[in-house]
Amino acid sequence: MTPSAGGAAPDARDIVVAPLDLAASVDEALDVQAQAFGLSAEEVAVRHHIVLRHLASPGARALGATNADGRLVGFVYGMPNDRAQWWSSVVEPYLRRAGNDAWLDDSFTITELHVLPAYQHRGIGRRLITTLTDSATEPRSILSAIDTESPARALYRKLGYRDLARRVLFPSAPCPYAVMGAELPLRR
Ligand SMILES: CC(C)(COP(=O)(O)OP(=O)(O)OC[C@H]1O[C@@H](n2cnc3c(N)ncnc32)[C@H](O)[C@@H]1OP(=O)(O)O)[C@@H](O)C(=O)NCCC(=O)NCCS
Repeated sequence: MTPSAGGAAPDARDIVVAPLDLAASVDEALDVQAQAFGLSAEEVAVRHHIVLRHLASPGARALGATNADGRLVGFVYGMPNDRAQWWSSVVEPYLRRAGNDAWLDDSFTITELHVLPAYQHRGIGRRLITTLTDSATEPRSILSAIDTESPARALYRKLGYRDLARRVLFPSAPCPYAVMGAELPLRR
């Protein structure tokens, strides 16, 4: 079953999770992110450059979730953590203060995970992140999420991620983030 004009709920069984050429699909992916996470047109333009830069990192990989009509309804991407990268350098002092900065080595970073609102809470986010990390060679995974009790934080905890640092401030972000880490493979 696919989404219909009558508003029937989308069926997650029709969703295919597969490798995504994110450079070719960056506009579609950012549209998913804008709807899921809330991004202004200005933020989308900035993210466009950031995504393309991330994809140049060694080992960067993306998966997409596509519905029966071929529409992208969710995506995830990440890469082996590199301490020289901006994200890692921002979180490092917070992790160091908490005695957790060794997590920045030999770790696969989840950079983005988003599912369209109409397709959320049907197991698609879980499929995306577990499939991506299952093929990582690193023994663990790290990520950051807004430091509030959100569906994202609930999902990450269920998968085995725990808090490595809280109240992490990124220069450009209005609210604090939590940095979380999990041993791989993720818990099911
Ligand atoms: C976070 C997100 C990607 C999860 O994707 P999803 O496909 O909805 O997640 P799943 O259906 O796989 O959910 C798995 C678990 O997440 C939690 N969860 C998902 N949606 C939830 C909701 N609306 N309320 C509470 N918990 C929720 C539950 O623990 C759920 O486990 P359960 O199915 O056993 O109850 C999705 O909610 C999303 O895109 N949110 C907005 C963007 C965002 O915050 N991205 C993450 C940035 S760090």
